[in-house]
Amino acid sequence: MSERPYVIDQMISAKSIAARIEELCGEIRTEYSDTDKLVVVGLLRGSFVFIADLVRELDLPVEVDFLEASSYGNSMESSREVRILKDIRGEIEGRDVLVVEDIVDTGYTLNHVMHLLEARHPRKIKTIALLDKPSRREADITADWIGFSIPDEFVVGYGIDYAQRNRNLPYIGKVRFTG
Ligand code: IMP
Ligand code: MG
Repeated sequence: MSERPYVIDQMISAKSIAARIEELCGEIRTEYSDTDKLVVVGLLRGSFVFIADLVRELDLPVEVDFLEASSYGNSMESSREVRILKDIRGEIEGRDVLVVEDIVDTGYTLNHVMHLLEARHPRKIKTIALLDKPSRREADITADWIGFSIPDEFVVGYGIDYAQRNRNLPYIGKVRFTG
């Protein structure tokens, strides 16, 4: 991986993220108002902060599960070849599911995960992504709810990393190389 020096410029504040999550949760509650227990599936590792804030704001009975798909490794480019490293623990047949992703970039990850989960015949399955980079899309997929649509920038924070760093920033920032 690159060891080039970089700085992080704030792009979306913690306050804006919280406000947007509140809005989205209003819509999600309406969509799942007839659900007795929603299965919220977070895609590891990038969604862990988002899912934590989301389920606490949702105020619905939820079960939380996680799935890990292979990612970028330490590079800044998608491998386009998605592998499942960790599957969910629970059964989703006949159940209501919400898949939580940090960023939809090329879309290969979410597309692959959705095919996998849909084949298990949930009653209803929808997707939410905190961030969307529409200009980068290669696979034919759009999340049902999107926190923020952003330009083609490499971002970190709020669970999202660059080479495993910066996940603990409370805001979303863009990586700017200085050397
Ligand atoms: P996709 O399969 O190309 O849509 O990639 C999705 C995954 O790539 C996301 O879940 C992130 O883990 C990672 N990713 C995409 N864009 C960024 C970024 O700007 N910063 C950090 N990780 C990213
Ligand atoms: Mg991810």
